[in-house]
Amino acid sequence: MNKAMLEEMGLHPVWKLRRAEEAPAEACVATMGWDELEAAIASCIKCPLHKGRNRVVVGAGKKKADWLFIGEAPGAEEDMKGEPFVGQAGKLLDNMLASIGLSRQKNVYIANTVKCRPPGNRNPEPAEMAACRPYLSRQIELVEPKLIVLLGRIAAQSVLDSDEPIAALRKKRHSYGGIPAVVTYHPAYLLRNMDDKAKAWEDLCHARRLMKELDPLS
Ligand code: URA
Repeated sequence: MNKAMLEEMGLHPVWKLRRAEEAPAEACVATMGWDELEAAIASCIKCPLHKGRNRVVVGAGKKKADWLFIGEAPGAEEDMKGEPFVGQAGKLLDNMLASIGLSRQKNVYIANTVKCRPPGNRNPEPAEMAACRPYLSRQIELVEPKLIVLLGRIAAQSVLDSDEPIAALRKKRHSYGGIPAVVTYHPAYLLRNMDDKAKAWEDLCHARRLMKELDPLS
């Protein structure tokens, strides 16, 4: 139907559907509640990762939590289940959490820097993490964590906007938008490098101490 015909019927101007990559705008994401945010992520096609996904992986755990753990990207099992850290690395993460009295069911929210699986489990590209950042930022605002734990170099460098190696980022108190943040090894790395488990344990104790300082009742 052409413009003249539509005008004739009083139906012009026509409301045009926005292309999905134009929406939602960043400003809009910044005001979303959980339901809207999850729906926006589920329909996101802002970067090429959407092409290969089975499920988006928004996050898991308590939606208001003192602890926020941020990993890198969903892997194959996460992509099938739509939940972060459900594979071998996830089991190790759950054990790490339990070792300092934490769990997804109780006091932790878990998110990733990107919500769709990179092909072949490659690292997410900076542009892909940048495209997904408004979603992660809004998750952080909604969760209102007292402390953020960054899992692995990719998540740490991306969230902290740093190019320092993980060795330089560990054992320090960082900040993301005023929220204290610490860095430890990624559980998938620990599965391949068992010798560094002791260092990860030190990092968890560091995080626990920091949380006690932030909230003595924790
Ligand atoms: N590795 C990650 O970084 N995130 C997941 O969700 C699973 C594995």
